[in-house]
Amino acid sequence: MYRSHTCGELRLQDKGKKIQLAGWVQTVRKYGSITFVDLRDRYGITQLLFGEAVNAQLDQQPIGREFVLQVTGTVIERSNKNLQLPTGEIEIEVGSFTILNRSAVPPFTIQDETDGGDDLRMKYRFLDLRRAPVRKNLELRYAVNRAARNYLHQQSFLDIETPFLIKSTPEGARDFVVPSRMNPGQFYALPQSPQTFKQLLMVSGYDRYYQIVKCFRDEDLRADRQPEFTQIDCEMAFVEQEDILSMFEGMIKSIFKEVKGIDYTEKVERMTWEQAMWTYGNDKPDIRFGMPLLNLKKPDSVYPDRNDNRSLIDGAQFNVFDQAETVLAICLPNGADYTRKQIDELTEWVKRPQIGMKGLVYIRYNADGSCKSSVDKFYSEERQLAIAKAAGANPGDLILIVAGAEERTRKAISELRLELGERAGLRKPDEYKLLWVLDFPLFEYDEEGNRWVARHHPFTSPKPSQIETMISNDPAIKDAANYLNHPYASIKANAYDMVLNGNEIGGGSIRIHQRELQEKMFAALGMDKEEQQHKFGFLLGAFEYGAPPHGGIAFGFDRLCALLGGSESIRDFIAFPKNNAGRDVMLDAPSTIDDIQLKELQIRTDLK
Ligand code: AMO
Repeated sequence: MYRSHTCGELRLQDKGKKIQLAGWVQTVRKYGSITFVDLRDRYGITQLLFGEAVNAQLDQQPIGREFVLQVTGTVIERSNKNLQLPTGEIEIEVGSFTILNRSAVPPFTIQDETDGGDDLRMKYRFLDLRRAPVRKNLELRYAVNRAARNYLHQQSFLDIETPFLIKSTPEGARDFVVPSRMNPGQFYALPQSPQTFKQLLMVSGYDRYYQIVKCFRDEDLRADRQPEFTQIDCEMAFVEQEDILSMFEGMIKSIFKEVKGIDYTEKVERMTWEQAMWTYGNDKPDIRFGMPLLNLKKPDSVYPDRNDNRSLIDGAQFNVFDQAETVLAICLPNGADYTRKQIDELTEWVKRPQIGMKGLVYIRYNADGSCKSSVDKFYSEERQLAIAKAAGANPGDLILIVAGAEERTRKAISELRLELGERAGLRKPDEYKLLWVLDFPLFEYDEEGNRWVARHHPFTSPKPSQIETMISNDPAIKDAANYLNHPYASIKANAYDMVLNGNEIGGGSIRIHQRELQEKMFAALGMDKEEQQHKFGFLLGAFEYGAPPHGGIAFGFDRLCALLGGSESIRDFIAFPKNNAGRDVMLDAPSTIDDIQLKELQIRTDLK
């Protein structure tokens, strides 16, 4: 037996016990004839006291950081207690010790606050994982995993594994492919998600499926994206959108309760995609704070009669606004006392290439009711006041306005909103706000290819009332400039995203389950019959054998964990993540393979 207790276990009531501990040496402090050692394992840290008798042996067998040590000793009360530490009232008077293994000097200190940079810690991830903050993240991940499983199990879901070596399942990214030795010149794709399998399971009658499963996507990486990541993937048969929303609100609430002790009793807010885009410029708005956008150029498509604000800026000969496709404003509460310098800094912020605006117009709505702006030359104080009021401002607030091409401007102001919200402390880390975004467009227009692409994925059904529009119209886009007038542009999907504090944590849809509609969908995406058969013949075939109505959702498990752990970087919640270039720097992967392997797989790497 190596140990009788863990390093996080012993307390004052264990005083006098003879015990054995094993763990890693975190620190060694020598004071003449005695030495203190902090011994660490997964459960905590316990202080060891090497008194005179054993201390001399330490000179023969010196120990250093990260040595693996086993000690036998007695629990004694500490004279100098450390109440920050759960074991801080006791220490172990060491009777004997064994060095189980030695350690090279670690490349960074393995403590909560480490001196190791990101790259170094990733290279030695096995050491980084010894640190308590990383360990806590993995513990939280396991807690989320358990909570999800418990809930889904109670709701009669079955966990069914699906294969990794498959044919492409399109989710909008590139596939990772695996060559097949037994079928030369042919490739498997790794699943971007188990989408088609879970639908087939519905056809097979497993009406409640889930899996906590790896997905693989070859896409550009960001803080919230990894090339391999995990989903809580779910599917249900005989359901409508409302059934899915309530089932998975239940799951998230139960995760909140079990993992964070939070009773999320309020109703999860809902918003259509269109409302989200118009109100926040974004399809995953952070609704912990207000600051809605004001559209000064177009009547609001969500509330057209309430919000036509064009007259507020028209006719002032201000070219920037007159010539812009979009002009959007936002009100920063209590921002009127922003100094010139602060406004200049914000202007630089929106001019950065990531944001890409040409400038920032401001109107100060001073506490005394007067207005002052960077466009005084063009707009009278009265007009400025009218804009401020339309933006919902009160005296003391600051209005910020950006103008430019529609999509970029909308994106810019929604980023600006988040930035201002962050600076004003309105994005509170311990506050959680869930939101359903509903009614996404079914299609998106791809300018380059002058064709439709699926906004979610090609298995998503249109709203029932729009199935007819889809079936009876030709998807071809004859007039690219006016693609918005095509009947397909206004078809809404039976799709939903769950958003938590401005992050998309899950997305899903009610699926197409009739062959005819699925074929129409594939055709709309530019696939002829042959290609449909080649890529999705198995699914189309399955739809002929009694496919039930069905729908589902998948949650980004890593993202959910990161947000519950108070971080937006999912890497911290994955044991062995990849870096931003998609590399595992510890394994040094990807890497070349030897010629024999290449030959066996019939692959040449010298082609350009
Ligand atoms: P979707 O593509 O929206 O849907 O993915 C579901 C959720 O997975 C998370 N996610 C990611 N997390 C980390 N790294 C990535 N690269 C990454 N990509 C996505 C997001 C997202 O909301 N089959 C459908 C689901 C369905 O229709 O049921 C799907 O995969 O949090």
